Amino acid sequence: MKTIESLGDLTGKTVLVRSDFNVKVKDGVVAPGNDGRLVAALPTLNKLPAGGARVVVTAHLGRPAPSGTFTPDPAFTLAPVAERLSELLGKPVAFATDLTGESAKATVAALGPGEVALLENVRMDPRETSKVDADREAEAAELIAATGADFFVSDGFGVVHRKQASVYDVARLVPAAAGDLVFKEVDSLSKATTNPARPYAVVLGGAKVSDKLPLIANLLNVADRILIGGGMMFTFLKAQGHEVGKSLLEADQIETVKGYLATAAEKGVEFVLPVDVVTAAEFNGPVAGTYDVADMPSGEMGLDIGPKSGALFAAKLADAKTIAWNGPMGVFENGDYAAGTKAVAQGIIDATAAGAFSVVGGGDSATAIKVLGLDEAGFSHISTGGGASLELLEGKVLPGISVLEG
Ligand code: 3PG
Repeated sequence: MKTIESLGDLTGKTVLVRSDFNVKVKDGVVAPGNDGRLVAALPTLNKLPAGGARVVVTAHLGRPAPSGTFTPDPAFTLAPVAERLSELLGKPVAFATDLTGESAKATVAALGPGEVALLENVRMDPRETSKVDADREAEAAELIAATGADFFVSDGFGVVHRKQASVYDVARLVPAAAGDLVFKEVDSLSKATTNPARPYAVVLGGAKVSDKLPLIANLLNVADRILIGGGMMFTFLKAQGHEVGKSLLEADQIETVKGYLATAAEKGVEFVLPVDVVTAAEFNGPVAGTYDVADMPSGEMGLDIGPKSGALFAAKLADAKTIAWNGPMGVFENGDYAAGTKAVAQGIIDATAAGAFSVVGGGDSATAIKVLGLDEAGFSHISTGGGASLELLEGKVLPGISVLEG
C-alpha cells in the first residue's frame, strides 16, 4: 500500500483526503467523548499541512436520504465536525456548505498552503453511494475538478469496505496513497490475519451469531482458540445440548454452529464456551441468579457470562501471542451485566502486558472499553472501524484498500 511519503514533495499541492468523521452529534456539537475518530485523523491532518499541502477533506455523517441539494440539515451537516476538528488541530478549518458547488470552489480557492478545509457531508450527493459505476465516477471526477486535487489520501478507515465515490473512485483518478490512520489500521489488523504469532486467540461476542458467520468460517482456518460470549453464546450452548431458557437463540443457526464445532474438532481449533451465565427474568431486569450452563432455569435469560467463565476466558488468553476481540460478553451498558466483558478485557490487557499483540475490532467492543473506563493504552490497537475491521478479519479484500495497491 502506498503511503503519504510516496507522493513526494507536497509543497503547494492540493490533497483531497477522505476521513471517517461519522461521529455522534448532539445539540449541534460533537457529543462529548465521541471525537475518537477525529483524534485518530490528526496524524494525517497534521502531516499534510506540515508538508506544505493545501488540504481538502471529505467525510460523511450518518446515512442522509440523498437529495443532492445540500440544504442545511442539522441532523446530517458536518459543520459541528469542522468546529471540533478546528479545536483539535489548533487552527481554523474552513467549511464548505456543498461538495463541488460554489461554496466548495470558493473555499478551496481561498485555501493557502498548510491550511485545511472540510466539505459538506459527501453522502448528500446521491451518486456517492450509487451502485452504478458511471454515477460514482462522475461524482469523483467533479470532486477532483472542483478542488483541483493533485493527490488523494485515503484515511477514513471506517469506510474502506465501501465501494463509494469518495473512497474508491477518486483513488483511480489522481495518484493516491493511504493516510497514516489507514496504514496503521491495516498494518495492525493484518498481524491478526496473516501469519499471526501463536497461540492466536479470538474472543467473539455480540448479540447474533448470524452476524459473525463469515468471520467464524475464516477463523477456523487461522485461529488456535475461539472464545464465545455475548448473546451468540446461547446458540452454541444449545448446539451442545444445553437448555438456554428465554435467552437469545437463533434456532435456524444451530445446525451451522454444530458444523463449526465439528470442523473445529477436525482442525484442532479449540472452541471455548462459557461454563456459567448471569441471568434475569426479563431483558435488562434485575439479576435473577448465576448458574452453571447445565442448570439454566427455563423462565430466565442469560445476559452475561458468569465469573467462572470470565476466569476461564482470562486463563485461555494468558499465554496467547496474538488476540483479536470483537463483541462484548454481555449487556455491558447495564452495570449488572458488565463483569464478563470487564474480565475478558482485563485478560487481554494482562496478556498484552505479557507480550501479546492485541487488536480490538471497533464498534461495540471499542465502546465497551470506553464505557467501562478501561485503559485504552492496555491494548495494542483499537480499531476506528466497525464493519471495516470485521471484514478484514473475515479475510475479505476491501475495495478502498485494494485501490491503493495498484
Ligand atoms: C461506520 O460508522 O461504521 C462508518 O462510518 C461506515 O458507515 P456506514 O456503515 O454508514 O457506511
